Amino acid sequence: MINKLTKHIKNKSLKEQLEFLSEEFKGKIAFSTSFGQEDQVLTDIIFKNNIPIEVFTLDTGRMFEETYKVWNITNKKYGKKIKAYFPAKEDVEKMLNEKGIYSFYDSIENRKECCNIRKVFPLTRALGEVDLWITGLRAQQSVTRTDLHFFESNDTFGVIKFNPLKDWSFQDVLNYLKEKKVPYNELHDKGFLSIGCAPCTRAIKEGEDIRAGRWWWESKDKKECGLHVEQPEDVKVKISNLKI
Ligand code: ADX
Ligand code: SF4
Repeated sequence: MINKLTKHIKNKSLKEQLEFLSEEFKGKIAFSTSFGQEDQVLTDIIFKNNIPIEVFTLDTGRMFEETYKVWNITNKKYGKKIKAYFPAKEDVEKMLNEKGIYSFYDSIENRKECCNIRKVFPLTRALGEVDLWITGLRAQQSVTRTDLHFFESNDTFGVIKFNPLKDWSFQDVLNYLKEKKVPYNELHDKGFLSIGCAPCTRAIKEGEDIRAGRWWWESKDKKECGLHVEQPEDVKVKISNLKI
């Protein structure tokens, strides 16, 4: 399947690739956006061309005000609605009541627990009926992403993942946004290059890695929130229970 899809998208433009896949996976295809620069490129192509692909976001409840603003401006500009998935209230309440508001600073386990509750488990719901999941990942973003492929089989969520911007450079992304006048997060102009939740993102200094401001207290090779890595068995079990 993956080989076949890879062959089909060869020599097609990004718009043509998305159109082809929306036919191939009719009603079972979705794009996840965190409103980053890459995501805004894909949202622009999908919405401007009315490609039937659902666009959704995982609203963690800890996002920057500026991120909500881009969400709102984007909905308005294209006259579309980006769908929200929110974490389960029981999970959030239990975590906050037992471990406090900033548990994620205390250990990697706590940080992963928070990312699972606020992103990974809601993603399971978002991908419930989906067979093809599109992301804005690029290979150059991180040492953990150099081995990225256009199509990947994702066993954790039971989908095929499509990373159309795999080979784009950061400059390619910026050029697109500028040329097409696509709205973007105003924090990008204040040194926040990669943006996640507010308490786990800081601005970076000149010369620093693009993702240096994400979970800056952790080492480079551990900086993945769980959306894009294989999960340990206990988390996989919870995910498969959520699917039932
Ligand atoms: S993260 O795993 O470190 O948070 P990153 O911010 O680089 O990921 O974004 C990579 C891709 O993951 C995005 O292009 C998007 O497809 C997806 N993604 C990350 N965070 C979210 C979110 N909160 N909601 C929806 N998609 C997200
Ligand atoms: Fe929690 Fe931080 Fe992960 Fe957001 S990025 S879900 S606040 S640990």
